[in-house]
Amino acid sequence: MTQENNVLITGANGEVGHGLIAHLSRDAQLTIVATDIQPLDPALHAIPLTFVQGDILDPTLLKQLFEGRAYKTIFHLASILSTKGERSPELAFRVNVDGTFALLMRAVQQAREAQRMTKFLYPSSIAAYGLPDADTKREAGRVEEDAWCFPATMYGCNKLACESLGTYFARHYRRLDEPRSSYGLDFRSVRFPGLISAQTVPTGGTSDYGPEMLHHAAQGLSYDCFVREDACLPFMVMPDAIRALLLLEAAPRERLARLVYNVSSFSLSAGEIHRLTLKAFPSAVVRFIPDVNRQGIVDSWPCDVDDTAARRDWGWHPEYDRRRAFDDYLIPAIRERYRASAG
Ligand SMILES: NC(=O)c1ccc[n+]([C@@H]2O[C@H](COP(=O)([O-])OP(=O)(O)OC[C@H]3O[C@@H](n4cnc5c(N)ncnc54)[C@H](O)[C@@H]3O)[C@@H](O)[C@H]2O)c1
Repeated sequence: MTQENNVLITGANGEVGHGLIAHLSRDAQLTIVATDIQPLDPALHAIPLTFVQGDILDPTLLKQLFEGRAYKTIFHLASILSTKGERSPELAFRVNVDGTFALLMRAVQQAREAQRMTKFLYPSSIAAYGLPDADTKREAGRVEEDAWCFPATMYGCNKLACESLGTYFARHYRRLDEPRSSYGLDFRSVRFPGLISAQTVPTGGTSDYGPEMLHHAAQGLSYDCFVREDACLPFMVMPDAIRALLLLEAAPRERLARLVYNVSSFSLSAGEIHRLTLKAFPSAVVRFIPDVNRQGIVDSWPCDVDDTAARRDWGWHPEYDRRRAFDDYLIPAIRERYRASAG
């Protein structure tokens, strides 16, 4: 059972999955095993990979994924996002926490059997934070990893729980065993801000008003924004999110002082996103009709995060500031996407 070149990607059909698979497939040495509850998106059909469809909660799927294979790295992306999680908290808990726990168990077992370390990359979220109100959020400014970890959504609770579970598996799993195994999980997590992709349209996230505004404008559709104009969140474009995952994966273990890292690139209010959208699509129609409940969730997430530790430990820096994100990536690619689908 060799694991040198095998990577497993769960939630392969999602926004991050698309970007990550496209990127990893450029390395001909890698064998990619991908899984999702939905059939593989036709956009990924041309990429050489092994796809196994199934529910992360199904033990048969996990057995199939690990039978005869070991992985050097597992990218665990399968998740129920914040808005859907708030509407179906039980489902969110099961997929996000039970699903992650089951995969962590499998991963640690394979690591011990193969007598190797297995890297487990876990995208967490700014939803792990919970500020009590908009005034506190303004005063808090750039929030460090260990401050304000009082999540106010089921999704955020799930993220914080899985960060803790991953840390437990990496540092303390079977701590009473004598002797303790030196092999196990090398858990690494990034807390992503709201992600914006030009290639995929988001579903189920609370920060989706940013990308939704742009994708609607590019199609000539009006958009009702569900937060106030002054609602501010940190955002990151997908190429930087993929880079963050891969930089963290590549970092030498001894350089990593933490297991969970903030990463940031730029912060924008909904009004600023509107102005940037209008600059590119002057006939865009956006109405601000705040939904008090969804606004409350945005008010509980920081406007900016402190990513000093990621910069220091594994050389993180975003390649896209807000100008580059819009002018060089989002606007041209979103224009192209809808020009192609109109033609
Ligand atoms: N998109 C963002 O803005 C954002 C921000 C912060 C963190 N994240 C995290 O990054 C990761 C990937 O996010 P994404 O944007 O690609 O999400 P997504 O919703 O686009 O994709 C998630 C994928 O998981 C799959 N899935 C859902 N339930 C499943 C189950 N029971 N079994 C197997 N697969 C299942 C879905 O079919 C989907 O393809 C998630 O952990 C998410 O929490 C995303």
